[in-house]
Amino acid sequence: MIEILNLSKAYAGSEALAVSGLTFSVPVGEFLVLIGPSGSGKTTTLNMVNRLVEPDGGDIRIQGQNILESDPVLLRRGIGYVFQEAGLFPHMTVAENIAVTPRLLGWDKDRINLRVHELLEMVQLGDGTFGSRRPQELSGGQRQRVALARALAAKPPILLLDEPFGALDPVTREAVAADVRAIHQRLELTTLMVTHDMTEALLMADRIAVMRDGHLVQIGTPRELVTRPANDFVAQLIETPRRRARALAETLNA
Ligand SMILES: Nc1ncnc2c1ncn2[C@@H]1O[C@H](COP(=O)(O)OP(=O)(O)OP(=O)(O)O)[C@@H](O)[C@H]1O
Ligand SMILES: [Mg+2]
Repeated sequence: MIEILNLSKAYAGSEALAVSGLTFSVPVGEFLVLIGPSGSGKTTTLNMVNRLVEPDGGDIRIQGQNILESDPVLLRRGIGYVFQEAGLFPHMTVAENIAVTPRLLGWDKDRINLRVHELLEMVQLGDGTFGSRRPQELSGGQRQRVALARALAAKPPILLLDEPFGALDPVTREAVAADVRAIHQRLELTTLMVTHDMTEALLMADRIAVMRDGHLVQIGTPRELVTRPANDFVAQLIETPRRRARALAETLNA
């Protein structure tokens, strides 16, 4: 369970709050999607959960423990993070990238090799040719799959994903998204994912949290947001997929 309580953050040199009075929780096993326009504070929120950014106010608790009082290194061992750009180390092979955390944890070579093999299978790159390649020898979708494998290497119970499919073509995007959702389910993860694609949010989320200007506007299941949007902003946002489908239908029928 991740509990976020009255969280706020203002970056140095900026008067506006990047995140302001944010409160919500992610129960164990839930897939929560954070959605909102560019600059609404989504990445800042994820970075505070992982302590890459320190909050100015409020609390974050994981399994009841205040994360600001825990060792950041230990904290991050329990959290897999897939960054907005895959963020692989370019000088390392795929296998070395995936093995970064297990190596830090001092796993022996056989255990690491076994785990890397298992993870490549899990993200559907298990044909034996990928482990020795470097990130620049992969497609964008393959890079994202490796980033996911790396995030899950040490079996963290919590997964944070920051627009993990942003750079992918629609077909690959759907495939990777379906895999992520299946892996979440199979590993019984607690997942917090950022996107600004409402279709993706509706299809993947147990609950959706809508952010705007650093604030939480509404949180609820896809059905709740569709049937009872809190205001016009949420109504517009939730209508986007249908609006696009209608525009498409009109174009095709014209
Ligand atoms: N390191 C930083 N220093 C100063 N301001 C920052 C920094 N990082 C983000 N900001 C500002 O904080 C606000 C929130 O940024 P954040 O990256 O959290 O938005 P976001 O919702 O993730 O946007 P996007 O969808 O474009 O990724 C923005 O106004 C941004 O300019
Ligand atoms: Mg962002």
